[in-house]
Amino acid sequence: ESWFARSGTLAGKRVLVTAGGTMERLDPVRYLTNDSSGKMGFAIAEAALLMGAEVTLVAGRTAVPPPAGVELVRVESAQQMLDAVTGVYDKMDIVVKAAAVADYRRAAGVSDHKLKKSGERLTLELERTTDVLETLGKRKNHQFLVGFAAETEQVERYAMDKLRRKHCDLIVANDVSIEGAGFNGDTNIVQVYGEEGLVEALPLLSKREVANRLLELIADRLPRSGG
Ligand code: CTP
Ligand code: CA
Repeated sequence: ESWFARSGTLAGKRVLVTAGGTMERLDPVRYLTNDSSGKMGFAIAEAALLMGAEVTLVAGRTAVPPPAGVELVRVESAQQMLDAVTGVYDKMDIVVKAAAVADYRRAAGVSDHKLKKSGERLTLELERTTDVLETLGKRKNHQFLVGFAAETEQVERYAMDKLRRKHCDLIVANDVSIEGAGFNGDTNIVQVYGEEGLVEALPLLSKREVANRLLELIADRLPRSGG
């Protein structure tokens, strides 16, 4: 907790960012995960910090180190991410869910011993994880909630569907099949949607610049308070 007043567009605001991919263990040595690098979420956390916010960063598996100056919580599974974010949600002003959360985990739970092979084929039974963003959307009281949508087709339709289903204030959609967008790279091409539809379609930008533009959009839409 800083003893001096921070300055900047987000001074006095508490921002929660999730980043990276979750990891769903099958057994002690194997797991399911995805290609998320954490770069987009980390860029948002860093930009929020530079704009004067107090930042909590809940990060799964990432390819790059997290920015300094944030309160960092490392998690593995979707369930751990859910527990970490719901624990701090009430005191947050802005929540940006950039993490790539696994949709499924092993139905039988994490095996405590290494699974042995048998037979020529293996069918892995999976069960749904809890949707973290949807849970936050249902519990929203004062928070400004921003989700992401990774799509490969019908971007607007699916993004608007997620915005409504998860009670988000904004959804940041990217077509992850386009070169220069989405997972792993240092650039992104995103469209931001609100209740009214398309808010802004950003051109190809560095993830740092996407983060700045997104936080400016968020700041513009925050309810005015005090000074
Ligand atoms: N999300 C989440 N918890 C999950 C799955 C997704 O919080 N169990 C969040 C992601 O962090 C992201 C948003 O929901 O902010 C959209 O994720 P995405 O994978 O694009 O959408 P899904 O709703 O999972 O739908 P689908 O994968 O079928 O497109
Ligand atoms: Ca998903």
